[in-house]
Amino acid sequence: MSTLVGVVGVYRRLSQFSGKRRPPVRTVDRDLSLLVETIRPEADDVVSLRLGNGTPLPGWRPGAHIDLVLPSGLVRQYSLCGDPADRSRYRIAVRRIGAASAEIHALVPGTRVTARGPRTAFPFVGDGPFLFVAGGIGITPILPMVRRAVANGADWRLVYTGRSRASMPFLGELPDDDRVWIRPDTEYGIPASGAELLEGLPAGASVYCCGPAPMITGVRADLGATAAKAVHFERFAPPPIVAGAPFQLTLRRSGHIVTVPGDRTALDVLLAARPATPYSCRQGFCGTCAVPTADGGSMRICVDRGTTVLDL
Ligand SMILES: Cc1cc2nc3c(=O)[nH]c(=O)nc-3n(C[C@H](O)[C@H](O)[C@H](O)COP(=O)(O)OP(=O)(O)OC[C@H]3O[C@@H](n4cnc5c(N)ncnc54)[C@H](O)[C@@H]3O)c2cc1C
Ligand code: FES
Repeated sequence: MSTLVGVVGVYRRLSQFSGKRRPPVRTVDRDLSLLVETIRPEADDVVSLRLGNGTPLPGWRPGAHIDLVLPSGLVRQYSLCGDPADRSRYRIAVRRIGAASAEIHALVPGTRVTARGPRTAFPFVGDGPFLFVAGGIGITPILPMVRRAVANGADWRLVYTGRSRASMPFLGELPDDDRVWIRPDTEYGIPASGAELLEGLPAGASVYCCGPAPMITGVRADLGATAAKAVHFERFAPPPIVAGAPFQLTLRRSGHIVTVPGDRTALDVLLAARPATPYSCRQGFCGTCAVPTADGGSMRICVDRGTTVLDL
């Protein structure tokens, strides 16, 4: 709870630093039928999968992800963490958390899945210097960025945090370089602040950050005191709701009225009553959760707020 309070407390300050918001995501309406070629353990509770179909796959850039449609119908996003030059297959890595990731861990080679994309909500741009900050499974979009920075001869550093070395995937794939700081909690303690992760930030650096919500919040909050040029970040889980007001939803078909508390989303509340309610990104960009409203519009129930009548 204290973490949550801290997260919420610094949230307002973030926009004062850069005002940056998640860039709009271009929709890619393209279904790719892919076979699971390999699935292998990469760390505690993390597996990587190679996915291909024998034909050249659409190209992608560091920071891109695919929507993976699983045999059960669940759809989730996974960052591409292989080599963008290898058009014969995609590689993703998945930490086991809930239903979809558990299903992925149980897949076997030869299983057919559908991928949509790739699309990029976390574009890697600029010539450097770069500071990459990754937490746990958040290394997946960062790994191809580091490789690109190395290949381009850019000035870069990487801080990679995690609970323990055993829980941190791809340690063996990182450059053997003084600019890499592997920082498991078991050796350094839980980071006390974003500032700790920003130590040694090169002047004018662009920061690329992906990891748990408190890490992203801390890094963004403490960047104001540095000479950083910009911060780019990607969340794998929804951000906390800040200063949310309660509202009511009327479900037109049943006539039920439900109240959404200020600290919950409409999706949270509907999921509790209807566990099959579809969702995917929980951040408002994929459209999976959109529900028609009685006035002919639609509501992305994972992020949109306000009293309305849903065509449910
Ligand atoms: C752009 C994008 C890229 C992503 N890339 C990856 C990736 O490369 N590897 C990967 O394992 N996951 C990635 N995710 C998260 C992934 O899409 C799923 O949310 C995750 O696998 C959990 O789905 P689930 O059905 O297993 O659990 P759910 O039951 O859907 O989720 C349970 C709860 O865990 C939260 N959650 C999701 N991810 C995390 C996390 N990493 N740490 C803590 N809580 C989390 C969810 O928001 C939810 O509240 C990405 C998400 C996005 C939006
Ligand atoms: S779940 Fe993606 S927009 Fe709501």
